[in-house]
Amino acid sequence: MRVLFATAEAYPLAKTGGLADVSRALPVALRKLGLDVRLLMPGYPRAYVRVENPRIVAKIASFLGVDDATLVEGIFPETDLPVYLIDSPSLFRRSGGLYQDEAGKDWPDNALRFAFLAHVGAEIALGHISLGDDWIPDVVHANDWHAGLLPLYLSLRGDPRPSTVFTTHNMAFQGNFPADWVPKLGIPSACFQAAGVEFYNQISFLKAGLRYADRVTTVSPTYANEILTPEFGCGMEGVLRQRRDDFVGILNGIDNSLWDPAVDAMLPRTFHLSDISGKRACKAALQQEMGLAVMPDTPLIGFVSRITHQKMADVILEALPWLCAQDVQFVAVGEGDQAMEAGFDQARELYSANAAVIVGYDESIAHRLQAAADILLAPARFEPCGLTQLYALRYGTLPVVRRTGGLADTVVDATATSIADRSATGFVFDHATAEDLTSALVRALSLYREPLVWRRLQLQAMAQDFSWDASATQYAALYSAASGMPVDLGAKTQPVTVADQESTRQAVC
Ligand code: ADP
Ligand code: GLC
Repeated sequence: MRVLFATAEAYPLAKTGGLADVSRALPVALRKLGLDVRLLMPGYPRAYVRVENPRIVAKIASFLGVDDATLVEGIFPETDLPVYLIDSPSLFRRSGGLYQDEAGKDWPDNALRFAFLAHVGAEIALGHISLGDDWIPDVVHANDWHAGLLPLYLSLRGDPRPSTVFTTHNMAFQGNFPADWVPKLGIPSACFQAAGVEFYNQISFLKAGLRYADRVTTVSPTYANEILTPEFGCGMEGVLRQRRDDFVGILNGIDNSLWDPAVDAMLPRTFHLSDISGKRACKAALQQEMGLAVMPDTPLIGFVSRITHQKMADVILEALPWLCAQDVQFVAVGEGDQAMEAGFDQARELYSANAAVIVGYDESIAHRLQAAADILLAPARFEPCGLTQLYALRYGTLPVVRRTGGLADTVVDATATSIADRSATGFVFDHATAEDLTSALVRALSLYREPLVWRRLQLQAMAQDFSWDASATQYAALYSAASGMPVDLGAKTQPVTVADQESTRQAVC
C-alpha cells in the first residue's frame, strides 16, 4: 500500500501546532505497519536545513503562473520517511511564518500557495510528476484546509485515480477565500455552488476536502459526533452529515519516542514509571529557570498552548487573580491572540511572586514544563483531539480539561469511584467558565495535598497507552476500505470503525 500524505507542516521541519506532530508521527507509525508512506509539504526555508540528503527529483511544470518550482526529495530527520518538499522560491521561501508574515497578517496569496500544494499532490498521484522510481500512490491522504483542494483536483483530473482520504484537524480553520480566486485556481465555475466548494459566497478549501475526498476523518470520536451539530460544525455540519457514511473519528496518538520522560534529552533529569524522582529535579530546575522560588511541595501549574479563544485563554486570564492568590506557582508558555498575550504579559508583572509567562514558541520549554509541572491546564471551548494533555499524562502531570472533543476521550475525571477503581487520570469540568475551571482546580489542589493518592494518579496517568499503534492500524484499515486494496495487518488488526462499504466517490461538480 503506497500512501502520499500531504500536509502544511510536520515537526521538526515546520510546526505551529498539533498538525505538525501528527504529520510526523502517523506516517512513521504507518511505515512500521509496512505501508509505503511518503510525505509531501511546502519547502519552507526552515525545512531544508533539517531534511536529510536533499536532492532535486523533478522540475514542476508551470501552473497558475508559478513557474519556479522543483520537487526536492529527502529523508525526514531521524526516521526512514521519504519527504518531498515543494521548492518554489516565489511561494514558500519567505521570512515570517508558515501562514502569516512577520506582522502576523495572513499571506495575501495563501489561496495560491496551498492550491499549489494540492496541485503538486495531484500531479504526483496521477504520475504526471515522476518521483524517479515509478512510485504512484494507491491512497492520497490530505490534511486540513491547506490540502483541501487535493481531492477536488484529483476528482477533476483523474480517472483512474488513487483513492482519497481527507482529515480535518480543526473545523474552525477553513481556508475561505473570495470567489474571484475560483478561476485563478483552475477550478471550473460549475464547482462554485453549494453542492461544490462554495461557502457563503467564498471558496472554501475545507469544504472541498470534505466534499470530494472518498473518505473523511477527524481526530477523535467525540469531535466527530460534535461537528455534526451546529454548535461545533462551524457551518459545515450539513456538509458533514451528507458524508456521514464515509466519515469517522480516529483518535490521535503521540510519538512515544519524542515524548518520553525516560529519554527526553530536553530534560535536566529523566524519569520513568518505576522511579519518578527525576520529576522533582525537573521541577526545581524549571522553578529556577523561570525565576520562581524553588519550592518542591508547592503545586506547579503549567499551560503550554496557543493563546486563543479556542483554548479558553480568556477564561484562564479571568481565573488568574484567584489562582495566583492560592499557594501555587503558575508557568505559561504560549503565543497567539495579541490582546490575550498582553493579558498574560500583564499577569507576569502583577503576580511575579508566583507566576512566570513566556510569550513565544519554544519546543524545549514545552518539554521541560510538561516534565516539571504537577498540573497542566488544558481547557478548551472545543478540541478536535488535543495533544498537550496526552504529553502531560505521559510525564506524570495531571491535566485539567473541559469535557469536549478529544479531551473527553482521553482524560478520566478523578471521582471517588474512578480513584477507587484506578481509572482516574485528571480533572474534567463541563462549562467554559472561570467558575467551572476553578472548581476543577480546587479539586485538583485538594488531592495534591494527599501525596499517596496523588502519586497513584500520576502513575495511572503515566501508564496510559496513547501510542499511535492502535490508531495507525485504524488508518491502514480505512485506506484499505477506501482503495479496495488489502493490507496485511496480521495480529495487529483492530476492528474497523468505518462501515466497510463500497467507495462512494462524489460526482464532480
Ligand atoms: P493545537 O494543535 O490545537 O494547538 P495540540 O494540543 O494538538 O493543540 O498541539 C499543540 C502542540 O503545539 C503541542 O506539541 C504543544 O506542545 C505545542 N505548543 C503549543 N504552544 C507552544 C509553545 N508556545 N511553545 C512550544 N510548543 C507549543
Ligand atoms: C488541531 C487541533 C488539535 C489536534 C491537532 C492535531 O490543531 O486543534 O486538537 O490535536 O490538530 O490533530
